[in-house]
Amino acid sequence: MKHTKIAELLKSDHFLQDFTAKGWVRAFRSNRFIALNDGSTINNLQCVLDFENTPEEILNEINIGAAISVTGTLKESEGKGQRVEIEVKNIEILGKANPEEVKKTILSPKRHTLEKLREQAHLRVRTNTFSAVMRVRSQLSFAVHQYFNQNGFNYVNTPIITGSDAEGAGEMFKVTNFDLNNAPKNEDGSINYKEDFFGKEANLTVSGQLEGETYALGLGQIYTFGPTFRAENSNTSRHLAEFWMIEPEVAFCDLDGNMDLAEDFIKHVINHVLENCDDDLAFLEDRVIQEDKSKPQADRAPMALREKLRFIVDNNFKRVSYTEAIDILKNSKPNKKKKFNYIIEEWGADLQSEHERYLVEKHFNCPVILFDYPANIKAFYMRLNEDGKTVRAMDILFPGIGEIVGGSQREERLDVLQTKMQELGVDEKELWWYLDTRRFGTCVHSGFGLGFERLVLFATGMTNIRDVIPYPRTPKNAEF
Ligand code: 4AD
Ligand code: MG
Repeated sequence: MKHTKIAELLKSDHFLQDFTAKGWVRAFRSNRFIALNDGSTINNLQCVLDFENTPEEILNEINIGAAISVTGTLKESEGKGQRVEIEVKNIEILGKANPEEVKKTILSPKRHTLEKLREQAHLRVRTNTFSAVMRVRSQLSFAVHQYFNQNGFNYVNTPIITGSDAEGAGEMFKVTNFDLNNAPKNEDGSINYKEDFFGKEANLTVSGQLEGETYALGLGQIYTFGPTFRAENSNTSRHLAEFWMIEPEVAFCDLDGNMDLAEDFIKHVINHVLENCDDDLAFLEDRVIQEDKSKPQADRAPMALREKLRFIVDNNFKRVSYTEAIDILKNSKPNKKKKFNYIIEEWGADLQSEHERYLVEKHFNCPVILFDYPANIKAFYMRLNEDGKTVRAMDILFPGIGEIVGGSQREERLDVLQTKMQELGVDEKELWWYLDTRRFGTCVHSGFGLGFERLVLFATGMTNIRDVIPYPRTPKNAEF
């Protein structure tokens, strides 16, 4: 029999006869009231049992975590806390859950720490927090495709297995089908990749940008949205070894256009969740408020979640050059009082997250787009400015997150690009195809990458990136 989603039932304003709902038991009290959740909404459906006429064998199986099907009539609720409830005429146990076993899991109805929930990542989606986060994540993902589709971008799938290191940071996972204990060797003892599956060294991609650029210089405007991999040993609350990145790339677009695009895009997706995820955001907002109660005032979120999201949508991001930012940081209190772990001494310093957060959370109090960074702290493909020492890079910094976007105008001049690659030791032979785009109809073009999980972190008010992706991959952790 067809069943109706609980989200629909709870919105229904006519009282339905004989419909069926299916879901998992969240609570059962007084042998009479079942709180049923099917994942379609944060809210439970209250199911009222006629327990005198319900067989004992069934009553005994209505346990937390069990899957059940109920058929009955939707009625105005007599109790408090819900508008409607279902008067159950028929109940069926679809999947049992042994209460003694449930007690050992995070399904048991008490407060579990987020760390504990991570250990049972296969069950945590049955909690309010994780189902809310995952619904918001899904809506954000939809909004990404919606935005680019509405603005005439083509969705391009760049390879996951690649021979090139787009970022030049050397943080790649190797892809091989060699028996690692018995890999073919060259005479000098090094591994002979010519005999490997691809006939050359191959890696999991760190970014689809370079392939994305080749497609932008044909389709005009493209974006990618796919998994990216980084073997950096960063055990922080902002880094994953496997994360999802959105990378638009636009022909005939300079850095200003790129900043406009990034800002407009972020506002669109945030606005989408404000308009479509209110129940979940309200729940997550309250979660943060409850959690903050145990923190000192200074560590509490300065704005409620929805207020913070609304602020992003309604205000311009502040655009600041790297040079201006260095001046601000040099003269800042934490720098003068040596409170930063890395003291900013002079122009050219790479910014650490403590500096980024100072700029966003203390100085400007709004999202900041930093641009025109020193060439030597950025990747080889960024366009060199006339000053010969800065590049047309931009990073977007968000409160509580730090860097959420990294992008640039690309170096479109073949000779300048080649010189840069030589300086940085990027192999021209490997990137012959990339250089071809500069040989045949090169043009001004720009793009950026947005880390999807950092966006989900921001939108949900969660604080650890491991809690916004179903199965996080981090150093020493690939369970599930
Ligand atoms: O700044 P990144 O390294 O830039 C690039 O990869 C460019 N090729 C993008 C482009 O211009 N097309 O990474 C882009 C974003 C970062 O700003 C951050 O949000 C996210 O990807 N990111 C990570 N997210 C989670 N875990 C990690 N280890 C991340 N590394 C980067
Ligand atoms: Mg970056």
